[in-house]
Amino acid sequence: MIKGDKMKRYVWSLPTRLFHWLLVLFIVGAYLASEEENLLRIHTAFGYGVGVLVIFRIIWGFIGPKYSRFSDFPLSIKEAIEYIKNIFHPKKKYIGHNPAASFVMLGIIITLFFVVVSGVLTYGIQEGRGVLAFLNNSLFREMEVFEELHEVFVSILLFLIALHLAGVATDYILHKEDGTIASIFTGYKNIEGESVKLNSIQKIVATLFLAASIGVVIWGFTQDAPLNKSIYEEIEYEEHSSLFVEECGACHTLYPPHLLPKRSWVKLMEPKALQNHFGDDASLDEESRVEIEKFLVANSAESSTKEAAVYILKSLKD
Ligand code: HEC
Repeated sequence: MIKGDKMKRYVWSLPTRLFHWLLVLFIVGAYLASEEENLLRIHTAFGYGVGVLVIFRIIWGFIGPKYSRFSDFPLSIKEAIEYIKNIFHPKKKYIGHNPAASFVMLGIIITLFFVVVSGVLTYGIQEGRGVLAFLNNSLFREMEVFEELHEVFVSILLFLIALHLAGVATDYILHKEDGTIASIFTGYKNIEGESVKLNSIQKIVATLFLAASIGVVIWGFTQDAPLNKSIYEEIEYEEHSSLFVEECGACHTLYPPHLLPKRSWVKLMEPKALQNHFGDDASLDEESRVEIEKFLVANSAESSTKEAAVYILKSLKD
């Protein structure tokens, strides 16, 4: 052992550190892109990336090196209380996560899993997009529930991240000599103990998953990736009813049929109503009128699982 270097221990292997920083990047990206509807694709791309990282971290918790394995987390409530009580003068040095941190780390991993699952469910049910888009057909009436669940899990996550940062700050102030903050950059801590070394299976698994997480984000950015695929096809109104396009697109852009309920279309299409259509005369011959009305009624809000249609019907009911 080299003198002066006797306290340096390799605790966090490269995959563990890369996982940590990619996770930070993807969570921040997803969070920043969560406010605007037109950034939804960016938000979900980062979200899928987080999903791959979480799967990796769970696997890593079983096959990874010492200190990264769940079995190496000192998950004992008694020890955690003991640790926090003696935070100024810990009785025992933990080279990996201390007991309090172990609970927070496990909490973050579990919460992230639910954030991603509820997010993919929301994307599928509410937007009819992504890998669970088929669920939109049957569950669209419940769409708000999944979005709310997603938000609840995100709130829990933010709370746990705050705890994590508070823990890191506490450690920096009270146990600076351990070099905990430096360890997430360099991998080394100044604590007596065993260093880690990766075997080839660990190296292969880590390389595949970390590369996949980055790949998924980049793939998600592109419009047509299956990860974003929408169940709604661009409706070619021309093909369905050329009469509708001709007559109703003459004065303004076409109002999509799914934006109004049946009864509104029936009312709007009454011959009397067409004669005085928002101050204009939009009268039609009876044959065309009946055909257009049929088309509008058949494609009204009631027959659509689109978010806008569901919300319109709901707001009208209320
Ligand atoms: C002669 C011109 C003209 C024709 C033809 C016409 N519209 Fe309109 N429409 C208007 C005007 C003007 C308005 C009110 C201003 C606006 O919203 O653009 C309007 C408004 C509407 C609105 C209400 C939008 C809102 O903001 O509430 C709907 C729905 C609509 N039209 C559907 C139709 C349909 C369906 C047809 C075919 C049967 C049709 N229009 C044909 C002129 C026309």
